[in-house]
Amino acid sequence: MPEQDASDAKHFHEEVPQRATPFFLKGSGAYDWGMQHRLARIFRPESGRTVMLAIDHGYFQGPTTGLERVDLSIVPLLPQADALMITRGMLRSVVPSASQPGIVVRASGGPSVLKELSNEQLAIDVDDAARLGASAMAVQVFIGGEFETQTVHNLTRLVDEGYRRGIPVLGVTAVGRELVRDARYLGLATRICAELGAQIVKTYYCEPGFEQVVAGCPVPIVMAGGKKLPELEALTMARRAIDAGAAGVDMGRNIFQSEVPAAMLKAVRAIVHEGLSPADALEVYRSAS
Ligand code: R5P
Repeated sequence: MPEQDASDAKHFHEEVPQRATPFFLKGSGAYDWGMQHRLARIFRPESGRTVMLAIDHGYFQGPTTGLERVDLSIVPLLPQADALMITRGMLRSVVPSASQPGIVVRASGGPSVLKELSNEQLAIDVDDAARLGASAMAVQVFIGGEFETQTVHNLTRLVDEGYRRGIPVLGVTAVGRELVRDARYLGLATRICAELGAQIVKTYYCEPGFEQVVAGCPVPIVMAGGKKLPELEALTMARRAIDAGAAGVDMGRNIFQSEVPAAMLKAVRAIVHEGLSPADALEVYRSAS
């Protein structure tokens, strides 16, 4: 039987009001503790920002250049990433379970690159996402796409399931080949994702008007990288997105298809977390190469 604690020397500090710490992320103050805790595994509380490494491309395009051997090319980079966007298959097969980054698990899929890409369905059960310790689930939303309503429905179902388990949803605004990635379109797509419950939205950078896209979205926006660009261009795009209010980046090819992915990841971190200019971040890239 434990001893009774009968000490009179307790310190309740009655004169000190209990602290109520507001949650640090935009639009995220009303979520339950577990969901906020998971969001804090993705976004660093001290900056409210994230460097997310996206390597889920294989879910529709197979062994993408740079991802042929995730165990060799990506696993060594993990200590430098705040979060990792990945499929559950690759996660279980090659990622050590003691890895630190928050896991954003790919939660939609179906068509391969050979078919109509917007024809996606949900591709994971929320119980499995919870079993994996996922910090968020990512779902593609094709606004204006052929299967727009289906993909919006995927998002809303996942948001409902996510609330049951305290797992946030990352809505990815997928842009079909025929759609223009301007502020009007991206403002529409990001706002729809947030209105329908996504707790994070991933979208492309655009000029002009990215500030308005961010301001019009009530939850954090992370910038998608897109196709591989020369390093300075990619770093400049990331700098501009952060300056326009993005809460971080979720980049794939511009990191893992770089000649020196570890150096590029370091340079992107310098942009997102240290406020470096693109030119200074390029120096970081060069000296780490
Ligand atoms: C694309 O559909 C996947 O969700 C990727 O994770 C991501 O959007 C692509 O990353 P990046 O364009 O930076 O290679």
